[in-house]
Amino acid sequence: MILDPAQVAPAARTWQELTGLVRGCTACPELVASRTTVVAGALPDGVPAADVLLIGEAPGAQEDEAGVPFVGRSGQLLDSLLHEIGLPRQRVAVTNVLKCRPPGNRKPRRVEVGRCRPWLARQIELADPRVLVALGGTATEWFFGAGARIAALRVTVHHWQGRSLVVTYHPSAAIRFGPRGAPVAALREDLRTVARLVPPAAGGPAGDE
Ligand code: URA
Repeated sequence: MILDPAQVAPAARTWQELTGLVRGCTACPELVASRTTVVAGALPDGVPAADVLLIGEAPGAQEDEAGVPFVGRSGQLLDSLLHEIGLPRQRVAVTNVLKCRPPGNRKPRRVEVGRCRPWLARQIELADPRVLVALGGTATEWFFGAGARIAALRVTVHHWQGRSLVVTYHPSAAIRFGPRGAPVAALREDLRTVARLVPPAAGGPAGDE
């Protein structure tokens, strides 16, 4: 039987409950057939909510193996930038627009993004972040619609359903253009903006600058 996220996701009462439900999702037959795991997303241990929710595109090969978002090369770059700005992973929640890896890392199809949408919509409510961060074009289009352009939307802090929303490049673009490329500089600058929008951690620098 095909599970309909639009019916099931809104009823999840906690992030953990949603994680259990999304792991049983069968909405996209091609992705169900090719995935190893469903990568639901990660909320820091022991907290009901997060200051920041980072949203990527879809799991890659390593995430599909591990069942955890952003553990491959993109994740390593993200971790080092988050560390630089004083917002380590323990303070942020991380998820993706699609919870299953598209075969061969192809771009998510519009129909898949539509089917998966209720999971992310409910994750946003449950993680209850002050700041949402759209990493890359797929996440940017999730918020702004087809054709939304990162270059035109970054730098401004947007507001989305009562939360701040920062748009920036995907770490994979930063890797593609190299350490001296414009995307990594922009990503670093935009994550600094994110840090300024969250309250400082006890003893930590985020929000202090
Ligand atoms: N790229 C993404 O968009 N998400 C991941 O989890 C890993 C790589």
